[in-house]
Amino acid sequence: MGEKKHSAVLTTTAHFVPDRVVTNADLEKMVDTTDEWIRSRTGIGQRFFLDGEPTSFMAVDVARQLLERRQLDPREIDLIIVATITPDMMFPSTACLVQHQIGAERAWGYDLSAACSGFAFALVAAAQFIENGAHRKVMVIGADKMSSIIDFTDRSTCVLFGDGAGGVLLERADDTDQGMVDFELHVDGSGGDCLNLRGGGSLHPTTHESIDQRLHYVYQEGRTVFRFAVVKMAEVCDSLMQKNGLSGDQLKLFVPHQANLRIIDAAAERLGLRPEQVMINIDRYANTTAATIPIALSEANDKGLLEAGDNVLFAGVGGGLTWGSVLWRWGKG
Ligand code: ACO
Repeated sequence: MGEKKHSAVLTTTAHFVPDRVVTNADLEKMVDTTDEWIRSRTGIGQRFFLDGEPTSFMAVDVARQLLERRQLDPREIDLIIVATITPDMMFPSTACLVQHQIGAERAWGYDLSAACSGFAFALVAAAQFIENGAHRKVMVIGADKMSSIIDFTDRSTCVLFGDGAGGVLLERADDTDQGMVDFELHVDGSGGDCLNLRGGGSLHPTTHESIDQRLHYVYQEGRTVFRFAVVKMAEVCDSLMQKNGLSGDQLKLFVPHQANLRIIDAAAERLGLRPEQVMINIDRYANTTAATIPIALSEANDKGLLEAGDNVLFAGVGGGLTWGSVLWRWGKG
């Protein structure tokens, strides 16, 4: 990492989960699956779906909570980055919708598309703008309404996902011992064929034919993605920890992307972590894509699990293929 002028302290967290709970038993009535299969293969027990509102609804709720918790005027926000693969529309970006609805008149913003790695990518991008002195207050939000792009006739994907949003506020501090310590991010576009949504873009504009071919839904070769994710998540975490001379017992909390409990367990085992060092909520929310990490972090923060000086590790793997980890030192705020 280059030398930083300032540090980006993570001062506030927030999350939003919709009201409607959908259990594995509910899905048993829709596709040929069982609660036992879903729990044993993924660790998922239920998920929440958002009815009648778009992704921005959840992102705006998170943004308002961040402002309220920190007692900020929306005009103090410099930048809003929204990580999502389910934007309300192709454009304007979800970040523009959030900026307008919360009255962040001075802020600019953009959406970042990196699927399940989206929040980690966005967090690293946001930290740069603060560390180099360009900005003082940046919102990073991960929000996805996966129920809007799931094929509810495909049992191999529809059981995996949920809707939700989470976010953090990064603020400038002069003590450079806090905030982002280091990161390692990757993409491998050669793996794009095994996890994607091909319809509605310039390659396959929406037509009757593209809809008949179900190109507007998530496509995933689960086994291939699983084999990749289980190796890469553990590898990228181990690599970042080693590079920074840290062992598992020096980590307060591991906040991984929640796609599959077996992927999380493999990474935790490689790092030699005890169960209380690992945030897991996949049983309640399933895979909310860009929202899993900030929701889990927000829950950890609400429980008071983090203190100044604690090392926190974020990690994700997703469509692209994309993957990475971010090492963070919890600040005083
Ligand atoms: N209920 C019952 N049976 C099912 C279901 C279901 N919901 N889904 C699949 N099966 C069947 C399959 O048809 C297959 O049957 P067969 O052996 O007769 O062909 C069998 O179960 C095993 O299927 P696999 O796909 O091999 O099952 P696996 O153990 O790999 O688990 C899973 C599937 C959970 C999808 C796993 O592969 C996985 O977690 N993959 C990675 C997901 C991930 O991390 N994605 C990245 C993030 S997502 C993003 O970026 C948007």
